[in-house]
Amino acid sequence: MAEHIHPIFDRLLQREDRERRLKQKGKALWLTGLSGSGKSTIAQHLERRLYNEGFFPQVLDGDNIRSGINSNLSFSDADRKENIRRIAEVARLYLHSGIITINSFISPTREIRDMARAVIGAEDFIEIYVNAPIEVCEERDVKGLYQKARAGEIKGFTGIDAPYEAPLSPAFEIRTDQLSLDEAVGQLYAFIHPIIKY
Ligand code: PPS
Repeated sequence: MAEHIHPIFDRLLQREDRERRLKQKGKALWLTGLSGSGKSTIAQHLERRLYNEGFFPQVLDGDNIRSGINSNLSFSDADRKENIRRIAEVARLYLHSGIITINSFISPTREIRDMARAVIGAEDFIEIYVNAPIEVCEERDVKGLYQKARAGEIKGFTGIDAPYEAPLSPAFEIRTDQLSLDEAVGQLYAFIHPIIKY
């Protein structure tokens, strides 16, 4: 190394410095599940609960991703993959700022979620399966999209004519058809608290 070059790396703020300041461990909580399974609702309530308990969380979901950084992406296999790749990269940036992200995306295949896990790092990627049977999601049909998919107005809809592969060994599973919202968020909070506490 040249004599008058002084690397500054030891002066850069490290993830550890930020985590100490925020009094939390950065993690990427990854909520996967069918459309209508309750991912976004749980993500929003968990975010509020974490914030109220003194943590510093950030939800990433369709509203702030598919309308912004990923507004050019469709629901083709290739675009879903690119969608999740970019989200994982964003979650990784937050992670290295010591922030807990709550990622709420269908992320329909094991391959796609494995890619996200690889980008984020297996030790920081916490896979949470938001599980409601397709019949229940279809019955809820909050956005009317299942009806459109059945009518052929939407092609390649997850669970109808595009695949959803359930996680084989998620870190945590929530049956939203069997629990109230408060119960679901309470159980999830209890599970993640030891993982994120500083
Ligand atoms: S993915 O598969 O992870 O890239 O999907 P995601 O970014 O989470 O977006 C899912 C939401 O987009 C709406 N939508 C569709 N979902 C599935 N398949 C098709 N073809 C589709 N077209 C639009 C749908 O409202 C999903 O919302 P959620 O919040 O999951 O119900």
